[in-house]
Amino acid sequence: MDQDPSYQELYDTSIHKPQEFWADAAQAISWSKPWDKVLDDSNIPFYRWFTGATLNTCYNAVDRHVEQGYGEQTAIIYDSPVTDSKQKISFSELLHQVSKMAGALASCGVTKGDRVVIYMPMIPQTLVGMLACARLGAIHSVVFGGFAANELATRIDDAKPKVVLSASCGIEPNRTVAYKPLLDDAIDIASHKPSHTIIFQREQLVAQMTDGRDFDWQQVSDSSEYHPCVEVLATDPLYILYTSGTTGQPKGVVRDNGGHAVALAWTMKHIYNVKPGEVFWAASDVGWVVGHSYICYGPLINRSTTVLFEGKPIGTPDAGIFWRVIEEYQVKSLFTAPTAFRAIRAADPEGKLIDKYDLSCLNALYLAGERCDPATLIWAQDKLKVPVVDHWWQTETGWSIAANLLGSCPAPIKAGSPSRPVPGYNVEVVDASGAKVAAGESGMIVIKLPLPPGTLPTLWQNNGRYYDAYLSQVEGYYLTGDAGYIDQDNYLWIMNRIDDVINVAGHRLSTGRLEEALSNHPSVAEVAVIGVHDELKGELPLGLVVLTSDCDLSHVDIEKALIKQVREDVGPVAAFKLIAVVDRLPKTRSGKILRATMKNIANSSEYTVPATIEDASVLESIEQSLQQMGYAQ
Ligand code: COA
Ligand code: AMP
Repeated sequence: MDQDPSYQELYDTSIHKPQEFWADAAQAISWSKPWDKVLDDSNIPFYRWFTGATLNTCYNAVDRHVEQGYGEQTAIIYDSPVTDSKQKISFSELLHQVSKMAGALASCGVTKGDRVVIYMPMIPQTLVGMLACARLGAIHSVVFGGFAANELATRIDDAKPKVVLSASCGIEPNRTVAYKPLLDDAIDIASHKPSHTIIFQREQLVAQMTDGRDFDWQQVSDSSEYHPCVEVLATDPLYILYTSGTTGQPKGVVRDNGGHAVALAWTMKHIYNVKPGEVFWAASDVGWVVGHSYICYGPLINRSTTVLFEGKPIGTPDAGIFWRVIEEYQVKSLFTAPTAFRAIRAADPEGKLIDKYDLSCLNALYLAGERCDPATLIWAQDKLKVPVVDHWWQTETGWSIAANLLGSCPAPIKAGSPSRPVPGYNVEVVDASGAKVAAGESGMIVIKLPLPPGTLPTLWQNNGRYYDAYLSQVEGYYLTGDAGYIDQDNYLWIMNRIDDVINVAGHRLSTGRLEEALSNHPSVAEVAVIGVHDELKGELPLGLVVLTSDCDLSHVDIEKALIKQVREDVGPVAAFKLIAVVDRLPKTRSGKILRATMKNIANSSEYTVPATIEDASVLESIEQSLQQMGYAQ
């Protein structure tokens, strides 16, 4: 493939002259005070961007657009097929709601640096809550609604919020999820007790309130004064977002204010190719990083219109919903997870529903969150007749590490690869000793420090864990946790995780956390959870369970009990439904469970029996159990 001079120049400047590159990108942001240093390398490996500068992220996302005369432009389009409602919110109206909510939070004692946990469904108030925190310089931590009370409690204990924002319920296609009782349980379980909660009452289900602690969203917002934007340092945290690691304790990824705003504004132009005033739709959830970056902050900072969609790609009401939304609101770029397209394709393989709509407004489809199988990408490209950009990123980075820069230097698409490294990311592939491998050879994917602006500066109040988990393996590099290779054309191929993290429908889950939940059952003696291939969701968790000798439940009953236990302990999002009751688990002589080997067996991938195995016959019986479940064929 030919060298691409425009890409190469952009990329080389970002790597060799990062200060110049990012100072230029920072012109898109309104600062209260300029920076002392673009890149502060005084405390390596903890690099910081735009030190000394001050700004307010909410001002950049909302106020400045109104000041510049765009108050009447639509900021948020809320489309909710599950409640049969639609709403358009202008930047002026958003400013009004956010200023009032900031006032309400302030009246609850929230000030700069305080944490606010947000446990809410996909409704406009959730974005209002996030922006109100940003306005005050408070640090929000959004927890995905599909997590159970225990998971919420863990995050409350780590973030120690003064206030929790929530809603009475979320609406799933098959049920109404009562959030408030889950929140009440979480507060009971947590050692840290927030002083107040502010609850948005939805008409579908009205929550019971606790006097003195719980406030009604509408009432406190109506009775509060407008609160102005509070100036914060570029390096002050904007939010914490918890993500799954290898242990049961989630990692609190910290995002700063300055670098984040700069990076997202840059991506809206160079990657997503969306201009101010145009409509951008990330069909994800605000509980995930995609929702933070591209439902809330990215489009709004760019003065684009964001679509907030409360529904599913299929079943609300059918696999044509995405096309209806695109046509109705003239969406220019759509971003979602491959799993959503796999679901649509399975429901409407010939794309008949696509033909019912005029999608000429759509310029491109962006997919991320999990590996995109080439068949899905090619199907989407054929049916939609637009470029389909697979791009690779993580909660930790907040924006993509590898992508096709459609907005500035588009490259040929290779299905199965998220394309080339994005400017700012010096990506390398190394072997177990940390040595760089040749093009085409697989290894661990690492990024040379410093990471670009907007990526995690640390984990919440845990520099030690940040260093241990990401920076300690290969000196001077960030460990992505993904393995793969870079081909001769500089395209990346992301193959698998090197840790015990699995990816279920674009949602990242820790097998360690699921094992912890299963072990809590009194009849479970030993357990291992592995990720097995699934046509729709990419991966599904499968638990291999050894029961205690005194367990007198039938296999059917124990399976039901364990599925219920994980759902109640971790949440429905784990989609935990597969269990194999086995006599023993395969282990090395030192007692380490051979999870990777079992995963390969289940997925019918090649595997070698480790020389250190304690008893090789155990693998045979595991294989038989997996075959009975339709795996290991
Ligand atoms: N609050 C409460 N429960 C939730 C929830 C939320 N916000 N989101 C999901 N759940 C529940 C679902 O109701 C489901 O529960 P169930 O077991 O009672 O059916 C469970 O969690 C699993 O949900 P999900 O993974 O969404 O599976 P699904 O079978 O309901 O839908 C897809 C399948 C493919 C339609 C769906 O996974 C999807 O839309 N994926 C897109 C993924 C995505 O946006 N990822 C974000 C990263 S970009
Ligand atoms: P999360 O932090 O939940 O966004 O999950 C990040 C992980 O999802 C990455 O480390 C990858 O394992 C996987 N991932 C995300 N995007 C892609 C992609 N485009 N291709 C392959 N894997 C991806």
